[in-house]
Amino acid sequence: MASTHGAEVLVASNRGPVSYEVREDGTLHARRGGGGLVSGLSAIGPDAGAVWVCAALSDADREAVRRSHGGRRLSVEATGGQHVRMLDIDATVFADAYNGIANSVLWFVHHMLYQTPLEPVFDAEFRRQWASYEAYNRAFAEALAEEAAPGAAVLVQDYHLTLVPGMLRELRPDVRIGHFSHTPWAPPEYFRMLPDDVAGQVLRGMLGADRLGFLTRRWADAFEACCAEFAGGLGGTRVGVHGLGADADFLRARAHRSDVAERMAALRDEIGPAADGSARKTIVRVDRTELSKNIVRGLLAYRQLLDDHPEWRERVVHVAFAYPSRQDLAVYRDYTAEVQRLADEINSGYGSPTWTPVVLHVKDDFARSLAAYRLADVALVNPIRDGMNLVAKEVPVVSDEGCVLVLSREAGAFAELGEDAIAVNPYDVIGTAQALHEALSVGPEERAERSKRLAAAATALPPAQWFLDQLHALTGESGAAG
Ligand code: G6P
Repeated sequence: MASTHGAEVLVASNRGPVSYEVREDGTLHARRGGGGLVSGLSAIGPDAGAVWVCAALSDADREAVRRSHGGRRLSVEATGGQHVRMLDIDATVFADAYNGIANSVLWFVHHMLYQTPLEPVFDAEFRRQWASYEAYNRAFAEALAEEAAPGAAVLVQDYHLTLVPGMLRELRPDVRIGHFSHTPWAPPEYFRMLPDDVAGQVLRGMLGADRLGFLTRRWADAFEACCAEFAGGLGGTRVGVHGLGADADFLRARAHRSDVAERMAALRDEIGPAADGSARKTIVRVDRTELSKNIVRGLLAYRQLLDDHPEWRERVVHVAFAYPSRQDLAVYRDYTAEVQRLADEINSGYGSPTWTPVVLHVKDDFARSLAAYRLADVALVNPIRDGMNLVAKEVPVVSDEGCVLVLSREAGAFAELGEDAIAVNPYDVIGTAQALHEALSVGPEERAERSKRLAAAATALPPAQWFLDQLHALTGESGAAG
C-alpha cells in the first residue's frame, strides 16, 4: 500500500486546519483554523509537503470533499500550502464517534466530569457507538497508510484518535508514529471506570505509537500508571513531555491591529468608569463554554467577592467571554444556559444604573478576546481540570500593563506558571473569591514584575519549536528530546 510519492510528514486530527462554508451563491469558502498545531506545523514550511488528515465536520466540509475528488489533498493557501486530506466519514458514524465516544466518554473520563451516581452507563447504546469509534479510527488509519511515504513520520493528535497508532502500525510497520494528547490523562482509579476491554483497547491503541507526547509530567505519569496497571507497562513506547507555549510574536502583532483597538474602546464603554472617574478594574476570563472550564463557579466566586468585599462594588467588572462549544450535546447547552442565567442574576442583584458587574459575551470574536487580554487587571483561569490552558499563557503576554493571574492548580499550565500566579482550588468558591481580592489588591510594580515572569515562562516553548521537538524526537534527528 505504500505510495512512492507519499508524504514524509503527516498530521492527523479530528478537526483540521480548515473548515468550509457554503455561500449563498453556492460557492465554497475556506476558513483557516487557529491553534498551536496550525502554527506549529507551519514551522516545517510548504516545501516539506506535509499532509494533514482530518475529518469533514459539517455539510459544507462534506461538500468540499465531494468537489475535490474524494477530499484528496485539498490544497489550502490558508494553511501555508500544506495539503489537507479531509475524510468524508458517514455522518452517523462520525456523530457516534465524536459526540458519543470522544466528547461524552473519553473527554469526561480524562477531565473526571461524571456525576457518578447516575453516569456513566455502559450499555448497548455505548457498544454501538464504540463500534463507530473503531470505524472512524480505522478510516484515519487507512488514509494515513495510503498517504505516507516509506518511513514517514505520522503525528496523531488527541483522544479522538487513540486507536489509530495501533491500527496504522499493523497496516504500515515501516512508518514512525507519534501521538500527542492535548488533554489531561485520567488516573488509574478513574480510568478503570471504562469497561475492561475498552480500556485495554485504548491503551494498546496508543501503545502502537513509537512515542507519546503529553502537555505535562502529571498527565504523562497518569498514562504510565494506567499502562502499568492495565496493559503490563509501556512495552517499547517512549513517553515525552512537551508543554506547548504561547505564540508571542503572533499574539503581540495581532493584538495591535486596528480591529482590536476598536474593540478595546467598545469594551471600555461597557465597563464604564468608577464614581471618582478612575478606570474600573477588570477580572477577565475567556473560554470556550466547556464543562471543565468551571465558568459557573467563577461567577459564584465573583459574587462571593462582592459579598465579602463590598468595597469592590462599582469599582470592578467581571469581563467573561464564554464562546459556544459542542452545542450538539444537551449537557453543554444546559451549561451555557446556566452561565447566562447566573450572570443575569448577579447583574440584577448587584448592578446599579451606572454599573454592570458582569459583562458577558457569548459570540466568538478573537479580536475582542485580545482586546480583553490587553485590558485585563486580573485573569481568572479556574478549570476543574485542563490539559494546559493557553489563555493562562496568552493573557500575560498580551496585557498592556501586566495582569495578575488567578490560576487553578488543576490546569496543566500550573506546572509552569504556578510560582507567579495566585493558586486556587477550583471547587473552593470562597477561596477563589479571596484569591480574586488578593489579585485585585496587588500593587502596580509587583504586578508588572510577576506578569513579566509569567510571560517569559508562557513563551518558553513556542508552537513551532513544540512541533519540531516532537518531530525530531520521533525521527531521531538532532534536537531530539528523548
Ligand atoms: C480542546 C482540547 C483539545 C481538543 C479540542 C477539540 O481544545 O484541548 O484537546 O482537540 O478541544 O475541540 P472540538 O471543538 O473540536 O470538539
